[in-house]
Amino acid sequence: MSNNGKYMWWKHGVIYHIYPLSFYDSNDDGKGDIPGIIEKLDYLSGLGIDAIWLSPIYTSPMVDFGYDVSNYREIDPVFGTINDFLQLLHEAHSRNIRVIMDMIMNHTSHLHPWFQESRSSRYYNPKRNWYIWHSPKNGRKPNRWKSAFGGSAWEYDKSTKQYYLHTFLKEQPDLNWWNTSMRKAFFDDIEFWLKLGVDGFRFDAINMIVKDKKLRNNPLFFDYFNYKKKLATRNQPGSYSIIKLLRKLLDKYENKVGIGEIYSLPPGNSKISASYLGNGNDSLHLTFDFSLIFRWWNARSYYKCIQNWYDHIPDKGWPSIVLSNHDLYRSINRFGIGLHKKEKAKVAAVLLFTLRGTPFIYYGEELGMKNTKIARSCIKDPVGKRYWPFYSGRDKARTPMQWNDQQNAGFTNAKPWLPINKDFIENNIEKQKDNNDSLFNIYKTLIYLRKKHKPLNAGDWKPLIYGIKGVLAYSREFENETIIVVLNFTSARKNINLKMNEEMKILFSTHPKRSNKIQLENLQILPFEATLIESRI
Ligand code: GLC
Repeated sequence: MSNNGKYMWWKHGVIYHIYPLSFYDSNDDGKGDIPGIIEKLDYLSGLGIDAIWLSPIYTSPMVDFGYDVSNYREIDPVFGTINDFLQLLHEAHSRNIRVIMDMIMNHTSHLHPWFQESRSSRYYNPKRNWYIWHSPKNGRKPNRWKSAFGGSAWEYDKSTKQYYLHTFLKEQPDLNWWNTSMRKAFFDDIEFWLKLGVDGFRFDAINMIVKDKKLRNNPLFFDYFNYKKKLATRNQPGSYSIIKLLRKLLDKYENKVGIGEIYSLPPGNSKISASYLGNGNDSLHLTFDFSLIFRWWNARSYYKCIQNWYDHIPDKGWPSIVLSNHDLYRSINRFGIGLHKKEKAKVAAVLLFTLRGTPFIYYGEELGMKNTKIARSCIKDPVGKRYWPFYSGRDKARTPMQWNDQQNAGFTNAKPWLPINKDFIENNIEKQKDNNDSLFNIYKTLIYLRKKHKPLNAGDWKPLIYGIKGVLAYSREFENETIIVVLNFTSARKNINLKMNEEMKILFSTHPKRSNKIQLENLQILPFEATLIESRI
């Protein structure tokens, strides 16, 4: 194991992603909050996770639900107070759970005092260049850069007669990372949290923070290959340099982690995601690769995708494994149309916890929470509002956690900020806890096994069956211990030969009734079975 066999929390552990507005409401205003998270720490510790990552909880007008920050050193009253946060840190740490915050460096809220000052005048304004301002070009927008949320990325400011850039909403003006005074002020804000004892950050849209200085246009969308390669608004050399400085800042403190959200176009470009790991110890510790998320349910396609991700990881680097988050559909809704979703979710769980890399769980995935249908009048996500009825937005995967079958799924006693999925009566944590065969208990067992067996949390990965005929098998090896993982992606029984004669022991199977002793040269795998086989009897 790296670090002289020491268990490193961000590398060998499991990270749980909380969307705070939807986790647990402690004060009955219909919205989740920090004291609510504190109340649920025992639940999280029982699940066995090592760290929580909180989507943003800073002061915000909530136009993009916290991803538009107006003060990076304060907690938004919706979530509680700074004292609540300090208590969360303390309580989490005392249970050996680390706390990772979201850090949004690409943009601030339009209500951030820096932007207010920046837009106040064009000349003799020390903060004017903290954001990206340009004069009209021939009476028009400076170029044709597009906002990720639709429309132009430029907004005209009548009073100073210039445009400012916004990669997302117009209420999220982009910071100018070429400006060293802004950089220093921002790094001070980051350090503020490090000094308080936060264990790391998930850096939002970090591959977009620096844009082409010459404002070159992006290729048109239908120019697919150039679009893939040459975006003037992402993956600029400047972003890589800033990330190296960020790493230096994190390294001033012990045991901190920097995780990058690397969103590529088209999504899921493992090479680009891996490039932000630098040489493995000078850039981000972990980056997200979304390629598995954009895959059809198919063993071969999953295999290719995983292999491709690993091929790009630098020698000293470490992968992350992510199957869902707050911007995308719930994973269970993506595992193909039709039947067997629950069975597929179990196979996916085994994959998540047995691949090489740090697994991320998005809250509710441990019980297979589904997308929730949101009526138009209830849509909160600005992207959903903009694109309805073609796309109803991201709310469907952000609905309240389903704790039990009581009123509002035990999330709140008030009207919840987003509707609760109607299946909560059947599908909730309390119910699944009592059922040995539930997805929740599978998550719990797998997290336990992953922690216990070094091959699973730190070992090498060797593919054995490359997704042919719907089966993916691989081994994880560490010193003299080997664990073989076999995943059947199909509804048919499969006979496979792993070309090893030793008799081995089943460590775990999604089919609890399968017998314990097996022969590797003639192994029958049940429909949608995922199993872990140990080489030490
Ligand atoms: C990231 C976040 C997303 C947010 C956007 C703008 O992609 O994950 O939720 O809307 O950045 O900050």
